[in-house]
Amino acid sequence: MKLWGGRFTKETNQLVHHFNASISFDQRFYKQDIEGSIAHVTMLARQGILTDSERDEIITGLKGILADIENGTFVIDETYEDIHSFVEAHLIERIGDVGKKLHTGRSRNDQVALDMKLYIRDEVRETDALLKELLSTVLRIMEANTETFMPGFTHLQKAQPITLAHHLGAYFEMFKRDRQRLADIYKRMNLCPLGSGALAGTTYPLDREYTASLLHFDGATLNSMDSVADRDYLIEFLSALSTIMMHLSRFSEEVIIWNSNEYQFVELDDSYSTGSSIMPQKKNPDIAELVRGKTGRVYGALMSLLTTMKGLPLAYNKDMQEDKELTFDTIDTTKGCIQLFTGMLATMRFRNSVMEASAKNGFTNATDAADYLVNHGVPFRDAHGIVGQLVLYCIDKNISLDDMTLEEYKAISPVFEADIYEAISLKTCVEKRLTKGAPSPAAMKEAIRLEKEYLETAGILN
Ligand code: ARG
Repeated sequence: MKLWGGRFTKETNQLVHHFNASISFDQRFYKQDIEGSIAHVTMLARQGILTDSERDEIITGLKGILADIENGTFVIDETYEDIHSFVEAHLIERIGDVGKKLHTGRSRNDQVALDMKLYIRDEVRETDALLKELLSTVLRIMEANTETFMPGFTHLQKAQPITLAHHLGAYFEMFKRDRQRLADIYKRMNLCPLGSGALAGTTYPLDREYTASLLHFDGATLNSMDSVADRDYLIEFLSALSTIMMHLSRFSEEVIIWNSNEYQFVELDDSYSTGSSIMPQKKNPDIAELVRGKTGRVYGALMSLLTTMKGLPLAYNKDMQEDKELTFDTIDTTKGCIQLFTGMLATMRFRNSVMEASAKNGFTNATDAADYLVNHGVPFRDAHGIVGQLVLYCIDKNISLDDMTLEEYKAISPVFEADIYEAISLKTCVEKRLTKGAPSPAAMKEAIRLEKEYLETAGILN
């Protein structure tokens, strides 16, 4: 059955039907479609547009359809054009003519705008819950590793010593911002478009605020044309998901590097790695590589929707049906990646002694040697030059700063005394970095306390 056969004298071409139809993918929000219809008829009856008994019959019919779809006795028939037609047609089949009153004061344009918003609202919450789980995992590793030394890098060259807790703390901040972004989006999108009709509202005395409150929106949208033509919240959500993927991809890249034969900072659990069909020795970081790879697909969806929307005149245009498949795929992809990454991280073994040994060579304490000179009255620029000479000397002898004798130090600068060794030890280098946000165990413990507090209190709605 079609919702719009009246003014047509010919059957739709079959290819046209398939090209136009969306039921193969919009059946995903059957629950939201029914939930929206129940709110709509509840409001219609309250306004005297339907009688209470008509309302009750329609709601009973809709709830029956919902229950039968959920328990699997009623399969969604893909010959219908979309989920809206499917539900309405079956309602009429089940309860008769009164079912024909469901669509009073409504268009599929405001209906689909509502369904998609309800669906996305749920997905924003679910994505947030998965991020929270990831953050708990990151925090657990941070708490156990405030004194696990490792090299910090710039340009992928060893720079200064840090700790594993400090390194992971950077990702904690990223995923925290991702959750804040989701909360912002939720707040901005949480206005109900239902009652906007096709584009110009309706002549029925609808109470849009009442429908909005039934569906737990903060209120009703303020312009009926914008209501049916707005997909900004999808673009914002795809953008937030792209940023989450970008963060996961950077983290994955680090896991891949850390897991390489050259680094060996970590060992992936067998349950989260894969082998090679030809090389028996291999244990590959496929999960991290796939997360990195799928990031491109998610960015593509964002570009795709931005491009779809850029030339659309107001109000609804069928182009907008293209928002669904790519959004659904992006949500599935990103949620899957967060979950897989969390599992991989939770089971990964950090090889603390390898990381510490790596921090000890590569002159990560060169800045601290310069700071030592500064503390003994040498201007920083001169100190930088002196330590540069020390490094050159060490490279030539294939030793580290810690291996030089005091005589060798004094030959380059008489300012050095025996306490230089303590001053440039890995432990001192890290422990002296006490400023807010720095890697010393003391500063990190304070940061962890604040992150913990955040995790306990923050959510989508607060
Ligand atoms: N399947 C359509 C979509 O996803 C539903 C809205 C149809 N509206 C219309 N005027 N044809 O956008």
